[in-house]
Amino acid sequence: MSNDDNTASVTWAKGMDAKAFLTALAAQADRDRPLAFVGRRPVLDLAKHCIGNIPVSGPANRARALRNPPGQTLLIQGPPGAGKSALLYEIEAWTNSQPDSVSTQVDRDLLARRESLLSLISAELRDAPEEAPGDSVSKAQGGNAGFALLKGRWSRTSTKSEPVPTSVAALERRHGKALHQRRLILLIDEIQDVSPEGARTLNMLHTQTTLPVMAVCAGTGDSQGALGQPGGVSRWGANAVVNLAGLAPSEALQCARQTLHKVVGTPTTPRIQGHHAIETWAEQLAEASRGWPQHLHNYLASLWKALSAQEQPDLSRAPLEETLAQGDVARRSYYDQRMERFLGYEGVVAAVHQGLATAHGGILPKGEVINIIGEFKQRLPEHTQTAFDRRFEDVIDFAEALLKSGMVANAPNGGGWASPIPSLTDYVLDQGSAGLEP
Ligand SMILES: Nc1ncnc2c1ncn2[C@@H]1O[C@H](COP(=O)(O)OP(=O)(O)OP(=O)(O)O)[C@@H](O)[C@H]1O
Ligand SMILES: [Mg+2]
Repeated sequence: MSNDDNTASVTWAKGMDAKAFLTALAAQADRDRPLAFVGRRPVLDLAKHCIGNIPVSGPANRARALRNPPGQTLLIQGPPGAGKSALLYEIEAWTNSQPDSVSTQVDRDLLARRESLLSLISAELRDAPEEAPGDSVSKAQGGNAGFALLKGRWSRTSTKSEPVPTSVAALERRHGKALHQRRLILLIDEIQDVSPEGARTLNMLHTQTTLPVMAVCAGTGDSQGALGQPGGVSRWGANAVVNLAGLAPSEALQCARQTLHKVVGTPTTPRIQGHHAIETWAEQLAEASRGWPQHLHNYLASLWKALSAQEQPDLSRAPLEETLAQGDVARRSYYDQRMERFLGYEGVVAAVHQGLATAHGGILPKGEVINIIGEFKQRLPEHTQTAFDRRFEDVIDFAEALLKSGMVANAPNGGGWASPIPSLTDYVLDQGSAGLEP
């Protein structure tokens, strides 16, 4: 799985002005596909394993499939900016490069509309004719009754005469073998806010072993809870939940380096100069990011902005200190956003981070985090405790809000909670230190 210039979100168009290109890069949303995707090999391998193991030839393999349920639903969890959406883009690109597979990004809300989802599955799995121009938009969003516009033959005729299938069995009865020509991977982002009905549909998809359909979901650290405990469901394998941490220092460096090589002094961008300065800049930006993908994105964005402001864009003459300072502002603002829900309780959050910082391996069981919160709450003035009770249902609710907002993260190997980014701990302790000492 690799990214190339044809699939990155902002690409150099022939004849494009260098400054316009840099301005577009600087404005690129952090949710877009990165110019250079790096690392995550174990997760990508796991994803290939989970979704690559589904027999596509259907009925002939059914007996085997029932004995050994194929595939696994994969859930990727991580704090905001850890790189979940970027991973889904990679998985999507890989799946679509396989001759017998197709993947589609599915809006989480579509899960709650089971019939629409089954229509989508039906339309995708059948050997559909070429898409008409413009269809990909409705494909990505999976509109309510929109599948008539989506993909040729089946959708057009069936909406006139055939009822919408309401179950996997109904789909099978109608289409039989035709549903088993290829596998379909549903990519569902931001799954943490799935509705109970949506979670039920996902469980239905996940437990059925008939259709060659698998789901890869991504969401914040509390997603597993939102989906309901997977115990007892056949296709949640032991490794089906991945907790995403930041990039290793070498990966962050590689990402910065590869990204700069795609922008500075390439054959298509000769007017952006300073190729020989790439290594120095890559080291500085990677180090400043502390391996957090969102931070690296922000430091790069501030570099694109600085370059676009130059008369003749030249990396070797770009202002390093100013660029890093701008990136620091973005990093701080990311932390401020995480802290927003906990204003007034900075001391409680600091107590949690202090506990994590001194715990063995930097990991505490969720129960201990809850204890820290409970004990600290007791020490708050009475009016603050009353306000706490108005804002949060209980200490567990507070703890889960920490996880959802990315103030804490599931430890990568499970078994407790950890600080997602060391520099977040520094920030939190700085913010809450006044409240730590009575
Ligand atoms: N492995 C990676 N290689 C290169 N860039 C990455 C990688 N992972 C993430 N990024 C970049 O880092 C930024 C944040 O990543 P992304 O948007 O995927 O995070 P997220 O976990 O989906 O966050 P959110 O919870 O806010 O949706 C994006 O600009 C993304 O392109
Ligand atoms: Mg995302």
